[in-house]
Amino acid sequence: MSRIETIADGVTLYLGDCREILPTLTGFDAVVTDPPYGIALNTNNLRFSGGKGESQRRRGKLSGTAGGDPIAGDQEPFDPTFLTEIGSQQIIWGWHNFPNSLPRGACLIWIKRFDEAFGSFLSDAETAWFSKGHGVYCFRDLSNMADAKIRVHPTQKPLPLMKWCIEKTTGSILDPFMGGGSTGVAAVNLGRRFTGIEIEQKYFDAACRRIDEAVKQPDFFIEKPRPKQETLEL
Ligand SMILES: C[S@@+](CC[C@H](N)C(=O)[O-])C[C@H]1O[C@@H](n2cnc3c(N)ncnc32)[C@H](O)[C@@H]1O
Repeated sequence: MSRIETIADGVTLYLGDCREILPTLTGFDAVVTDPPYGIALNTNNLRFSGGKGESQRRRGKLSGTAGGDPIAGDQEPFDPTFLTEIGSQQIIWGWHNFPNSLPRGACLIWIKRFDEAFGSFLSDAETAWFSKGHGVYCFRDLSNMADAKIRVHPTQKPLPLMKWCIEKTTGSILDPFMGGGSTGVAAVNLGRRFTGIEIEQKYFDAACRRIDEAVKQPDFFIEKPRPKQETLEL
């Protein structure tokens, strides 16, 4: 099943499989995405909450984000190569899960835990591959430690993190693994054109709602595409 929602001029969301939809689309400047990592992640974010979260989950008191549903495509190895062929810049989260599939690039690190929490078996940070450059750049955002119960997606990225990513790129943004739409909200907040694709109806609906709310902000604007420069024959 597929569906297209035009949230605003320059902001279009697709419900469906990106591998089928992408061949029908063109004209993106940058891919900023957080695909399935191929790690069969246990998405029950509250399993370490001393039983409290788990009992709330069983009684249906929590949103789907903490419900432990598997992420589509996460059960088999993920090959991100096809994403490097779209647009002129790519940022792909989950780099350390598929390091041999991507060429040299810059490393973006999201530090997601307090220093005091370092050293447990839980991940302290996540990595992204950026096609431009070769440095290592860090961004600290600890909000995911606090707001597991209000997220719309189990692996939702914080908005400030996605804005930081998008500001490293230029032009229109594509996220073919949109989830709950964090890349889209960040893109729209920054005035960028955005196209998102998501295969799961419940996350697609959440993304439509969040991006629509972002578009309705009074300071909403979308950058017009720059006309291509003509080469003059002298
Ligand atoms: C890691 S999550 C993205 C989470 C997102 N960054 C957020 O902040 O909400 C990856 C998403 O890709 C979706 N997905 C997996 N395979 C897909 C496919 N072939 N086409 C479109 N979406 C897909 C999954 O349903 C999942 O929501």
